[in-house]
Amino acid sequence: MALFTKKNQEVSFEVLPEHLGIIMDGNGRWAKQRGLPRKAGHKAGAEVYREISKECGRLGIKNVTFYAFSTENWKRPKEEVDALMALCKSYLLEAKEDVKQAGDIRLKIIGDKESFSPDLLELMVGAEKETEDHMGTTVNVAVNYGGRQEIVRAVNKLIAEGKTEITEEDISANLYTVPECDLIIRPSGEQRLSNFLLWQAAYSEFWYSDVLWPDFTKEDLYRALRDFEKRNRRFGGSE
Ligand code: FPP
Repeated sequence: MALFTKKNQEVSFEVLPEHLGIIMDGNGRWAKQRGLPRKAGHKAGAEVYREISKECGRLGIKNVTFYAFSTENWKRPKEEVDALMALCKSYLLEAKEDVKQAGDIRLKIIGDKESFSPDLLELMVGAEKETEDHMGTTVNVAVNYGGRQEIVRAVNKLIAEGKTEITEEDISANLYTVPECDLIIRPSGEQRLSNFLLWQAAYSEFWYSDVLWPDFTKEDLYRALRDFEKRNRRFGGSE
């Protein structure tokens, strides 16, 4: 896949992750550095999300999951939670037009949707429906998502179906999203998984950067993908 950067240099990758996970971290610190409220950091972060999700579409990455709001993020001050929900809402209102620019992007909202207001839920379902025929790149936005919750939900679904013995395949088939995650990018200097894609990350490669998410650029994405190309993945086997 050949693309061109701002400087008109060709960008191409021999290997791309089939599923890329991105933990969008550092919005609060970005805002603090500028003397701004945290919600300003999230607003800047949402713009970067839009750019990077479209870039993943242009590159032809088949699945990308962005961690936008965890099951633990409800503990944040109400003002911040409200600002995050409002950002999600305004993005979803424009999502159809937005993903059209990037071609073939299918949008999915993953996580426990039951806690959302009816209007937000309607927008989520609408955006999923409008893009369901797009087969290029699936962009999952994880909202009210937790990896443990995702696994427990899968097990409960299987119990409700009457299963008495559960296999790994059963669990995989009942998660919000497959396939296994090949690469997880986490900016902002933190090096932890934070309950993200726990099951799918069993053999993920990790790529960290000190850049705060609102400063994350396409070039940072290319750097992570370039590094991923060189990884020697053995999945528990030997050379
Ligand atoms: C973590 O940074 C970031 C979040 C909890 C929210 C991420 C959300 C966005 C980027 C907006 C997404 C919007 C859409 C439309 C998908 P932090 O607040 O924990 O930052 P800090 O560690 O510097 O305090």
